[in-house]
Amino acid sequence: MIESATPTVPIVFKGREDLVEQGVNILCQQTLRFLAILGAGGMGKTSLALHIMVSAFVKDKFAGGCYFIPCELFEDAESLVQGLLHVMELSVQENQSKQKILFNHIQTAHCDLLIVFDNFETPWNHGDRIGVQNLLEKIAKHEKVSLIVTMRGPDGPGDISWERLGNQSGIPTLLPVPAKEAFKAFAGNKLQSSDDSESQIDSLLHQLEYVPLAIRLSAQHVKRVQLKALTRMWEKGKTSILTEGPMPGRLTSVSFSIDLSIQIFRIEGRTLELLAVISFLPDGIPFWIENLPQMFQGEELNFNVSTLLESSLIY
Ligand SMILES: Nc1ncnc2c1ncn2[C@@H]1O[C@H](COP(=O)(O)OP(=O)(O)OP(=O)(O)O)[C@@H](O)[C@H]1O
Ligand SMILES: [Mg+2]
Repeated sequence: MIESATPTVPIVFKGREDLVEQGVNILCQQTLRFLAILGAGGMGKTSLALHIMVSAFVKDKFAGGCYFIPCELFEDAESLVQGLLHVMELSVQENQSKQKILFNHIQTAHCDLLIVFDNFETPWNHGDRIGVQNLLEKIAKHEKVSLIVTMRGPDGPGDISWERLGNQSGIPTLLPVPAKEAFKAFAGNKLQSSDDSESQIDSLLHQLEYVPLAIRLSAQHVKRVQLKALTRMWEKGKTSILTEGPMPGRLTSVSFSIDLSIQIFRIEGRTLELLAVISFLPDGIPFWIENLPQMFQGEELNFNVSTLLESSLIY
């Protein structure tokens, strides 16, 4: 289970050189121990964490071990401990405490350790937040341990002083040039090159707002349909066309990725209606604190804007 949920380091990875360098620098040169990679679904948080984890400096510094925990599999502290034991290849006898074995391993480590808690929004929002927070903070107390957390949301978990990559709302979308390089690399040799197709790619990527997941999924279509047809499909079907394969998952469907946030953050009722309204507005709601009550005059404002902000579905 854990092995199959652990992604390999992506081969096509464009426009993130600065963020990789910053992350490596924080952990290795500045010897700060807590790095948060935050942002919306499909933005490339996990890919960035993996690239930081395999950099030569990081491998060198964390000779004690670099551990990747796919937290989407774990909903509470107990299962997280189980996952850590598995990844660290620690075995537990029947009458032993799992936490004791884990912390004994951490305490007796001779070299620095790095633990990557990937997609931490699942355990963090599932219900046992106190238990999960206690576990995370207990691990963070050990000086030999550095942490990377990737998570949908604007803040790192708990009272740990996280160093964040990117800006206020997390890591940004790609810039147009690397976005185009990524699109072309994903599309491969099926893409015919002409001046016309260059401007069509530019326009499509602009409409996809340079989100890495959307770029990868749209480029898969180019292997079967022409660019012109793809642009028309996007205009008609929007995110529904950004899928791949028969089983939708967070990496194969933009709609699935959005629905996942709606589920994890329990967005429902009026809050969900507000999200739907915002999604139709090309520029969102500028100065929302003043404008939202104006837009919904006479109605009780019982939707929860902070839940939407926490989910990174709006920012
Ligand atoms: N810089 C990049 N260049 C090209 N492709 C990228 C880049 N970053 C991410 N991708 C691709 O975009 C997709 C989504 O990336 P990733 O899983 O890292 O996003 P995420 O932010 O972790 O998503 P989630 O919130 O669902 O966990 C992957 O298929 C990945 O290969
Ligand atoms: Mg991820």
